[in-house]
Amino acid sequence: MLAWFSVLWVATVGLVNSKELPSNYHQLRGHQVWQVSDGMDDVVQGLEAEGVVDVLDHSRSRRSLRIAPQHQEYVHNLLKDNNMDYKIHIEELLSFFQEEESAEEESRLSRRSESREQQICTADSCPQPLTDEYMTLDQMEWYLSELTDSHPDLVDVSSIGKSVEGRDIWLVHIKAGKCREEKEGKRGRRAKRMARRSMETKTLWIEGGLHAREWISPAVALRLIDNFINDCSMSETNEVYIVPMSNPDGYKYTWTTDRMWRKNRAVISNSECKGVDLNRNWDYHWGVGASKSPCSEVYQGLSAFSEPETQALRDAMKKVGDIDLVLSLHSYGQVLMYPWGWTADPAPDTEAMKKMGDIFAGGARERHGSTYEVVNSAGGFYYASGATDDWAKGKLNSKYVYTLELRDGGKHGFKLPSDQILDAGNEVWDGIKRFLNALN
Ligand code: ARG
Ligand code: ZN
Repeated sequence: MLAWFSVLWVATVGLVNSKELPSNYHQLRGHQVWQVSDGMDDVVQGLEAEGVVDVLDHSRSRRSLRIAPQHQEYVHNLLKDNNMDYKIHIEELLSFFQEEESAEEESRLSRRSESREQQICTADSCPQPLTDEYMTLDQMEWYLSELTDSHPDLVDVSSIGKSVEGRDIWLVHIKAGKCREEKEGKRGRRAKRMARRSMETKTLWIEGGLHAREWISPAVALRLIDNFINDCSMSETNEVYIVPMSNPDGYKYTWTTDRMWRKNRAVISNSECKGVDLNRNWDYHWGVGASKSPCSEVYQGLSAFSEPETQALRDAMKKVGDIDLVLSLHSYGQVLMYPWGWTADPAPDTEAMKKMGDIFAGGARERHGSTYEVVNSAGGFYYASGATDDWAKGKLNSKYVYTLELRDGGKHGFKLPSDQILDAGNEVWDGIKRFLNALN
């Protein structure tokens, strides 16, 4: 084992010149991604709870585990002892990221040579969310601060609370019955009355960016904000609430220090590890399929709602009250999950959630052929409580509650190329439109 290990080490380390990579990749040197087959079982979940593996995706047929160099031998032995086979999918995470980065750079160059219209997002002007670059936290905030100025009657942007490190968590409210008026003045007001008569107002809550490294999640949330603002057929009759960035500290950290960071940045006393998994911290059968170890990627926190980020989201959702559709955006895997996550017993409205989930998936598939599998989160995958979805179902009693794992199926994972942002956003938008039309 040791011999095998050191040979591998020598062979891979030479290939990577980490200097060429931005600093948020440096501490991933020597990390590997292993794939284990045959469903999510206790062994893997145990390793995840111990904090020695990072489960990257949850497709049923394959699980990808990121393992730091100091844990590789231990995990190898444990898997062998349990007769579990694995294959090394990525031998050196740094070289994987290096390839991804140079492909990004190439695509950026070709976009530039096609002299496509340059998108702007600076401290002075950020009229639209970028469609082919991931936005920094600052850029997101510039965009959001401009939104209210450009749509004073239609859009409301407010802070619902602060993160551990004191950053604002922004809620965007796109108000029902204001869109046509903004775009068409008096004529719009008449159209609006007609539209409202034929449809019942529904309330939507969309949460993005709860997990820091899932960059496509806030990017899609921002696309959706732009879509709802520009397409009155949806926003005229629906109250839309979107939190594009629920974990600003973690997101910032993925840009500066560790591209694979998932949790928030809470300091845990008596531990050298930081961060609580914000999708294991909500108070509904808290503590199932989560970890009590602060070093685990699925650390549940000292108590339910111990974190200011989950508190802020909870309070804002309670304040809105009656929410018909709750959608929590994650990546990756292209799966639409409905509760429960804490038990395999069916949640209320299961049949309705399934049926409407299929309608969403049908709409999402039509534009680019992307498939989204509709499954129950505990039955289809693994038990995990403390997520937004279970709380929204169990405590808020929303009828339609989902966690949506966005693109992709695993090829690029969290490092989804930025030229897919627009397509990813558009297919989700199509799914949501189909969903809302069916609902109304
Ligand atoms: N990938 C998400 C997570 O692990 C899925 C959450 C699904 N919901 C649930 N209640 N298990 O956090
Ligand atoms: Zn996630």
